[in-house]
Amino acid sequence: MKRILVTGAAGQIGSELTMALREKYGHSNVVAGINRTQPNPELKESGPLEVVNCVDPKAVAAVVAKYKIDSIVHLAAILSAVAEAKPALAWEVNINALYNVLEVARESKCVVFTPSSIGAFGPGTPLDNTPQDTIQRPSTMYGVTKVAGELLCDYYYKRFGVDTRGVRYPGIISNVTLPGGGTTDYAVEIYYEAIKNKKYTCYIAKGTYLDMMYMPDAIKACIDLMEASPSRLKHRNAFNVTAMSFDPEIIAAEIRKHIPGFAMEYKVDPVRQAIAESWPNKMDDTCAREEWGWKPSFDLRTMTNDMIEVLTQKLRK
Ligand SMILES: NC(=O)c1ccc[n+]([C@@H]2O[C@H](COP(=O)([O-])OP(=O)(O)OC[C@H]3O[C@@H](n4cnc5c(N)ncnc54)[C@H](O)[C@@H]3O)[C@@H](O)[C@H]2O)c1
Repeated sequence: MKRILVTGAAGQIGSELTMALREKYGHSNVVAGINRTQPNPELKESGPLEVVNCVDPKAVAAVVAKYKIDSIVHLAAILSAVAEAKPALAWEVNINALYNVLEVARESKCVVFTPSSIGAFGPGTPLDNTPQDTIQRPSTMYGVTKVAGELLCDYYYKRFGVDTRGVRYPGIISNVTLPGGGTTDYAVEIYYEAIKNKKYTCYIAKGTYLDMMYMPDAIKACIDLMEASPSRLKHRNAFNVTAMSFDPEIIAAEIRKHIPGFAMEYKVDPVRQAIAESWPNKMDDTCAREEWGWKPSFDLRTMTNDMIEVLTQKLRK
C-alpha cells in the first residue's frame, strides 16, 4: 500500500484507522474520503480530505485518479441497527457502493480492504467456536449485504485478479468516535455512562455473549492482513477475527473494579436483541492466526483499564 483512499473515513473505525495509516504510510499518502459525517479536526488537518459519495461511481473513480490511489480501504457502510430501519439505504451503500469500489479497483489496479462482520452469520450458524467456513444464512438486511459483499470480493479476486482482502470484525470498542448504529454499540456506551453517571441502561439482555475487539486490535488486523504475503492466504476475504467474548454482566463487573458503585439496568430492545441472538457467541479465528499471524493485544481487563483512563480524561475536558 503506497497511496491509500479510505472511504467512510469519518466513521468509528475510519477516524482512527486513517490516522494510523497516515502515521505508517505518510500523511500525504492517505486520503480521507468522507460523505455526510463530519471529520474531527485532527483527521481534517493531518492529510488530504475529499467528499466521496461511494454510491456515485464517478466520484470514486475521480478521487482514485486524482491521487493515483493504489489501495482502497472501503469502510463506507450502513450498520446493523440502522440497516434494519432503512433496508433500501443499506442495500444501496453496502452493495452498490462496494460494487462501484471493486469496479474502480479493477480498472485502476487497486488492492481493496473491506470489512465484513459477525453480522454475516445468522440462524443455522454454529454459535460457539463459529468456524471460518460455515453456514451463513443471516436474517438481517445488514447480514444479507455482508454475505453478498464477501462473495463479491471473492468473485473479483477469482474472476479479475483484484487483490481483495477482509476480516469479519466483531463489535469494535473505541473512545474517539462514537459507533454508527450497530448492535454492539452498548459495549461502548457503557463506558461513557459509567464514567459520567455511574449507571447504564442496557438494551441487550444479560447472558447474550458476543465477540468484541478494542480499536487498536481492529487497526492491527487491517494492516497485518494487508501486509501479509499473498502466498500465505488460503482465504482472502472475511477472516474471522476476535479478541474477547462477553455478555453485559461480565463487562459491567469489569467496570465495577474501577467504578465500584456502577449500576446496570436492562431495557431490552427487541430488534437489537434478536440481531444479537442470531450472531455468534464466540468465533474461531484459527485461520487468521495461521494464514497471516493474527494475534490480538487487548483482552477485557486491559481494554477496560485503557478505556476508563482515556475516557475519564476526555470527559473531564
Ligand atoms: N464498528 C463495528 O463494531 C463494526 C463491526 C463489524 C464490522 N464493521 C464494519 O466496518 C466498517 C466501518 O464501520 P464503522 O463502525 O466505522 O461505521 P460508521 O457507521 O461509524 O462509519 C461509516 C461511515 O460511512 C459513511 N458513509 C455512509 N454512506 C456513505 C456513502 N454513500 N459514501 C461514502 N461514505 C458513506 C458514513 O458517513 C460514516 O462516516 C463497515 O463496513 C462495518 O460494517 C464495523
